[in-house]
Amino acid sequence: MTKISIAEATLIALTNEADVAVIKPARNISGAVRLPGDKSISHRYAMLAALAEGETRLTNFSSGADCTSTLACLRQLGVTVVRENDAATLINGAAARLRPSPDALNCGNSGSTMRMLAGILAAQEFDSKLVGDASLSRRPMARVIAPLEQMGARIIANDGGRPPLEVKGAGKKLRALDYTLPVASAQVKSAILLAGLFAPGETSVEEPMRTRDHTELALRAFGTEVTRVRNRTTIAGGQKLHGISAAVPGDISSAAFFLCAAAIFPDSNLVLEDLLLNPTRAAVLDVLMGMGARISVIDLNENHGELVGTVRIGGGGLRGAAISGAQSAALIDELPVLAAIAPYTREGIQIQDARELRVKESDRIRGVAENLRAMGAEVQELEDGLRVPGGQRLRGANINSFGDHRIAMAFAVAALRAEGETRIAGAECVSISFPEFFGMLEAVAER
Ligand code: S3P
Repeated sequence: MTKISIAEATLIALTNEADVAVIKPARNISGAVRLPGDKSISHRYAMLAALAEGETRLTNFSSGADCTSTLACLRQLGVTVVRENDAATLINGAAARLRPSPDALNCGNSGSTMRMLAGILAAQEFDSKLVGDASLSRRPMARVIAPLEQMGARIIANDGGRPPLEVKGAGKKLRALDYTLPVASAQVKSAILLAGLFAPGETSVEEPMRTRDHTELALRAFGTEVTRVRNRTTIAGGQKLHGISAAVPGDISSAAFFLCAAAIFPDSNLVLEDLLLNPTRAAVLDVLMGMGARISVIDLNENHGELVGTVRIGGGGLRGAAISGAQSAALIDELPVLAAIAPYTREGIQIQDARELRVKESDRIRGVAENLRAMGAEVQELEDGLRVPGGQRLRGANINSFGDHRIAMAFAVAALRAEGETRIAGAECVSISFPEFFGMLEAVAER
């Protein structure tokens, strides 16, 4: 078995041509991998560490550019952040006394950074400006502006509620809020809870369906009390946070590319170590198991409230799947790769109730459909999803990443079972969440 560490996995399967990844077909996916730290948890630990008293020491912090954007914004707000090579990130909290930044805070490509920081900044005594790259500047922010304005902040955005955001902090005028989310969004829920930390009284968020609960778990890990009754989460303002020492579990959304790659080959045997297995994030394992992949979880542990374990996966003759409703919301980041491997399943995959895919880093419904067609597949684009028939062969093709990390990685996976070589243009965007992706994939792809 090949064992590969993140540091070794820097040999990227890129050609000399700038920014084009060439993927050759594989026979199976075998070996062991340990994924870089979960992106969602890394953002939250960094932001809470910034608000805490004392030092927070994080290992396996996400290596992606999105989390680097969060750290850079926190530095601009007066927080001390030290990255000790790849091993540790030390954050000396400002104990909720952040400083205004004279310059705009650049969130890069990261919706999580912009939406969750907006929550913290809405509560401050000072004003801030949040900006992002071209993709982030097209993404909807009204969903976070509305509740934060109800709490007393004023947020000026572009037409239709797009970035940049000028956040006029409510300071002492901040009010607690009882809010029902119109769209299931963990980022918006988190922004409100983070603002609620500073508001007198209790702030509650009711979700239409359960979304990832890392903010709630992290708030508890940093020493605050958060209660949850069914889909309603409540936090009391004025609580103190204390720094923690934590290892960030391996990112399950990044792992999804490896899980899907292994699942499409009957002879695969892949082990994923120290993987995040939080039930609000692990739906991809249920779906792949339902499709016939052989999956077992070895040694399950709890780490600051998060479930972490080692997973072994072997492929199989995959059946199809129909994904809709709450399952679509739970799988939102994994849907592109599931759709990309759908042609290799028996009955195909149908995805509905996933309109949110259209407002991610790119329009992921369109991007998946266009790239599947480029590989010779039949696919039907729905307003809120995709229908991809099974039993199809794909041929290597020129793929467009649309500058979207999850599209680039999804089609690197599809390319492994295609006939001939696939070239992915704009492949560098994988660095947004997973800079080591191509190197690690090469290391476990048996040819
Ligand atoms: C995230 C929540 C999801 C997800 C994103 C990360 C988070 O977005 O797609 O990649 O860390 O809270 P929404 O909250 O917009 O659904």
